[in-house]
Amino acid sequence: MDSKKLLYEGKAKSVFQGENADEVIIDFRDDMTAGDGARKESMGKKGYFNSIICAKIFETLEEAGVETQLIELTEPCVMKARKLDMIPIEVIVRNIATGSIIRKFPFEDKSPFNPPLIQMDFKADEFHDPMLNDAIAIALGIASQEDLDKLRELALKVNEVMSKMFKEIGIILVDFKIEFGKDSQGNIILGDEISPDSCRLWDAETLDMLDKELFRQGKDDEVIDAYEEVFNRLLTEEDKA
Ligand code: C5P
Repeated sequence: MDSKKLLYEGKAKSVFQGENADEVIIDFRDDMTAGDGARKESMGKKGYFNSIICAKIFETLEEAGVETQLIELTEPCVMKARKLDMIPIEVIVRNIATGSIIRKFPFEDKSPFNPPLIQMDFKADEFHDPMLNDAIAIALGIASQEDLDKLRELALKVNEVMSKMFKEIGIILVDFKIEFGKDSQGNIILGDEISPDSCRLWDAETLDMLDKELFRQGKDDEVIDAYEEVFNRLLTEEDKA
């Protein structure tokens, strides 16, 4: 394991070359960052909860016909996945207005978006992930019009499946960010992760936050309990065994 070749080190995950050329091993770490990495803490068991939550969501999406990078969670925190050429676009889907969108535009806090709002940001820390439009993405050479249309179509499907999945366990899917990549045949596949790090999740009754927003707001001591709550609601006893 020590000889694993590191391909990419993200803020919360490390990606290593897998045994086969077209596979990678993704390590979910306990690191948590906010403000473009300005604040960084280690949150005990976060990698454990996120990797299992992500695998469960990816499996559910696969069953609904959305292709994902997941091959299998070989052990908690360690995901064997298909190697993808990642598209540097953060596709954000919003069902309710909150967060950066209400700081940038005059949307009323907590007002619903119907239909859901899809936003695309350029994934580039040095430029602070600026918002894209199709013309800019095409001019940058990071996606074609066909790719962008496909990203939107897939994002809406992911939102539909996940909103239902969370609703069934008393959680509102407020918004989330997903990333895609291309396989060796050029097919667009859902990659990266979906977890409480990348979603806003509110308890349907109390509207309590159950996601990384707690960390962004400095409520560090509430973070892991919230992630565990999502884990416990999402995973059946069979899943946990
Ligand atoms: O901060 P903002 O309101 O734009 O975030 C929208 C959604 O995208 C949130 O669920 C947030 O967790 C997610 N996001 C993310 N990674 C980023 C930016 C946003 O997971 N770099």
